[in-house]
Amino acid sequence: MKLLYLVLLLVPACVQGESDCNRLNMTSRADWGAEPPRARTPLTHPTTKVVIHHSDSYWRHLSNWGGYSDREEYMARVREIQQEHMGKGWDDIGYNFLIDGYGNVYVGRGWDNTGAHTPCCNSVSIGINFLGYFEDELPTRAALEAGKTLISCGNELEKIGPGWDFSLFCHSDLGAASGETDCPGAALCDYASRNFQYPWDVLQLVTVNEADWSHLGQVRTSAFLISPQLLLQEEPGNTHTTTRIRNKVTMDIENADQYAKNREGQQKVAVDLINRYITWQEGDVVLDVGCGTGEITKLMSQQPGVKSVVGIDLSLDFISFASENNAGANVSFHAADASDPAHFKPEWKGAFTKATCFTVLHWIQDKKTAFKNISSCLESGGELVINCLLESAAQIGQLDLPKWRGYLKDFTYSIYPWPNDDIGGMGRLLEEAGFEVLTCNGQPAPPKSFPTDPEGLKAVMRTMLPQLKYIPTDKQDDYLTDAYCAIAEMRKNFKEGDPEAVVAHARKV
Ligand SMILES: C[S@@+](CC[C@H](N)C(=O)[O-])C[C@H]1O[C@@H](n2cnc3c(N)ncnc32)[C@H](O)[C@@H]1O
Ligand SMILES: [Zn+2]
Repeated sequence: MKLLYLVLLLVPACVQGESDCNRLNMTSRADWGAEPPRARTPLTHPTTKVVIHHSDSYWRHLSNWGGYSDREEYMARVREIQQEHMGKGWDDIGYNFLIDGYGNVYVGRGWDNTGAHTPCCNSVSIGINFLGYFEDELPTRAALEAGKTLISCGNELEKIGPGWDFSLFCHSDLGAASGETDCPGAALCDYASRNFQYPWDVLQLVTVNEADWSHLGQVRTSAFLISPQLLLQEEPGNTHTTTRIRNKVTMDIENADQYAKNREGQQKVAVDLINRYITWQEGDVVLDVGCGTGEITKLMSQQPGVKSVVGIDLSLDFISFASENNAGANVSFHAADASDPAHFKPEWKGAFTKATCFTVLHWIQDKKTAFKNISSCLESGGELVINCLLESAAQIGQLDLPKWRGYLKDFTYSIYPWPNDDIGGMGRLLEEAGFEVLTCNGQPAPPKSFPTDPEGLKAVMRTMLPQLKYIPTDKQDDYLTDAYCAIAEMRKNFKEGDPEAVVAHARKV
């Protein structure tokens, strides 16, 4: 009942769901020092197109070698672009918005005025310019995220649409006044076409280098596509096909910042398992499967004797966050689906002395293949520690709220918790994958693993509920409240100390 009580507390505390617009770091015209426009032409909404641009030529890029060094430099470039454009006799800076490497969005002509950026289409499009040159390299993660959020915001404000039925173009798709253009560069064009148009069905589709597809630092145009579900597919003739992925969703793996901020519970669980089952040895080489945003991976790399740790995860967004925030001389991160043998690098075979898989397995349907893959990476005698939520504790997968069915008809949960009445079965599965089982039992979560204040709990739920994307932003709080009440009802029979997860410690034979 404690949970239900909290839910009741939560209702008056509810605030409007966070809008994508609120997440943007907007720099107003006054703040970047814009000249007033000579004239304005109102834009009719919703515009049916979004056009992506970049600001710099190859030559400019070369002469600007280190790239932009700070915010001031970006801002100066925005002013310079305005001067160039007005110098040509235009009314104002041509673009509706510009985005810098820090993810700041500069208001050009804004949502409501017709731009001057793509001759065919100014009156039916929003032109977004990424500051820099992006033929071979992508803009920073912050810039890409800002681009995606800006488009979602425009969509939310009904400036772009109708619904998500608008088209996204690269400037080069539509032609320039001078004829052809390379703008916005192949790397950005490719990324934008795959990522900016769909809020949820095409989740992060990127093209990556064949030789080292799993390393994000190497993202390049080539023969493989990887989505968060890492559908690895060859692209015939190198023409990119966009694969729509609906319905197969795990937790919300698109928002690394959100997860990183709200993973206190997972942290406690992992630290508890490490303390109880792992004895570090000199020269340990560790594989952290489903490493998320990498905090635990890094923590393990700092333990006495540990030589190095490799973290793998399904989510490109999490891996990218981990690489930026939790990498180190002896820690590296790679995108990989633990249940797909093709994602395991040949050099990982037998290379690890320990493997961990904390709070991940209930998201993986084919656990046996995942265990086999992990086993193949361990040396003989290498140890594995895992936990997997039990069915009785994975209520989020059982949520079916009649009031919300209309929004969720295309959504199915993909959560695969372990049956409460077959704890021993987990041990048998490990044995079939080549392990000797040292411990395998049902265990409660460590005390106070999850926040008790309503806002904190709501934030944790947000990281777990991918279906929120199907719910209109202004209704998400309402949905979360209903989800709470339903979960609290399901948890009524749950007693303090009841097992939440099956925990196993095993050794490779
Ligand atoms: C609850 S998080 C736990 C992350 C991390 N171990 C921690 O304790 O913070 C679950 C993670 O499993 C990852 N995941 C889900 N399915 C996966 C799969 N098939 N292969 C690899 N990672 C997967 C998700 O992307 C997510 O990062
Ligand atoms: Zn352009």
